Amino acid sequence: MLITLIGCGKMGSAMLKGWLNDPELDADFVIVEPHHDALGWTASHTNVKLFADCAAACAAAYRPSQMVVLAVKPQMMDEAIVSLAGIADSDTAFLSIAAGIPTAWFAARLPKRGDGSDALILRSMPNTPAAISRGVTALYAADAPAPITALAAQLLAAVGAVVNIDDEGLMDAVTAVSGSGPAYVFLLAETMTEAGIAAGLPIALAKKLTEATVAGAGELIAASDDPPSQLRVNVTSKGGTTAAALEVLMDDDGLAPLMKRAIIAARDRSIELGS
Ligand SMILES: NC(=O)c1ccc[n+]([C@@H]2O[C@H](COP(=O)([O-])OP(=O)(O)OC[C@H]3O[C@@H](n4cnc5c(N)ncnc54)[C@H](OP(=O)(O)O)[C@@H]3O)[C@@H](O)[C@H]2O)c1
Repeated sequence: MLITLIGCGKMGSAMLKGWLNDPELDADFVIVEPHHDALGWTASHTNVKLFADCAAACAAAYRPSQMVVLAVKPQMMDEAIVSLAGIADSDTAFLSIAAGIPTAWFAARLPKRGDGSDALILRSMPNTPAAISRGVTALYAADAPAPITALAAQLLAAVGAVVNIDDEGLMDAVTAVSGSGPAYVFLLAETMTEAGIAAGLPIALAKKLTEATVAGAGELIAASDDPPSQLRVNVTSKGGTTAAALEVLMDDDGLAPLMKRAIIAARDRSIELGS
C-alpha cells in the first residue's frame, strides 16, 4: 500500500511518526514537504520517500497511492492539489485534515473517478495533542467504502482517538470544541497561574501547581467512569474552598455562558471560513 502525505509540518509529522510506529500499518510513504530537510529523523525508514514538491513526487512515484493525506494550511490547499497526476489516480481516496474546507470544495477541484463520480474525499479535524498521540479527531467519511473509511481511521488513530461523524455540517461545531479546544485549556492554565500569583504565590510555584493540576485533572477525566460534573461534585464540600470558587465560576454570568459564547464564535468563524 502507498500513502502520500502532502504537507509534513506540525500535524503531518505527528501523523507520520504515528504511522511509522504502527506495526499494523504495512505501507510505503511518499512525503511532499518543501522543508523536508527537517525530516532527517525518517532516514532510517526505507519505506519513506521525501520530495520537495508534487512535481518531483509525481516524476518519481512508481504507482498511484491508495490514499493522499492533505495536511497543508487551508490557504495553501489550492496550490497543493493542482498537480497530483502520477501520485493519484481515479481510485485514490483523499483524506483532508484542513480546517474549514468542505468536501464539496475538493470535489469541484479534484479529477473525477473512472465512473464520472466525484473523487473520494474524507474530511477530518484533529487537534494539537496529536503531537503526543493524545489528540482526538472527528472523521467524516461521507459514503466512502468501509475499507477506505477504516484506513482513514487507522491513519488518524496514530495520533489519538477517532470519532466518526455522519453529518459534515457538524464539522464547524467540532472545530469549535475539539479543534480549537486545546487553546481554551491553555488559557485556563494561563489565567489560573496569573490568579495564583495575584493570590500571593511565587511565579514558578504558581506555574508548577497550575500545570500539574490541569494535566492531572485531564488524566482523571480520561481515567474515570464518572463524568466531569460528578468529579466536580466529588471534590466540593459544602462551605469549603472549592465551593467558594465554584460559586463565582458557576454564577449566572460565570464560565458557562462565557464558554457558550466562545464556542459559538468559533463555530461561526469556521462556517465563515468554509463558505
Ligand atoms: N496544528 C493544529 O493544531 C491543527 C489542528 C487541526 C487541523 N489542523 C490542520 O492541519 C493542517 C496542517 O496544519 P499544521 O499546523 O501542521 O501546519 P504547518 O505546520 O504549517 O504544516 C504545513 C506544511 O505544509 C507545507 N506546504 C505548504 N504548501 C505545500 C505544498 N503545496 N505541498 C506540500 N507541502 C506544502 C508547509 O510549508 P510552508 O511553511 O513553507 O508553507 C508546511 O511545512 C492545516 O490545514 C490545519 O487546518 C491543524
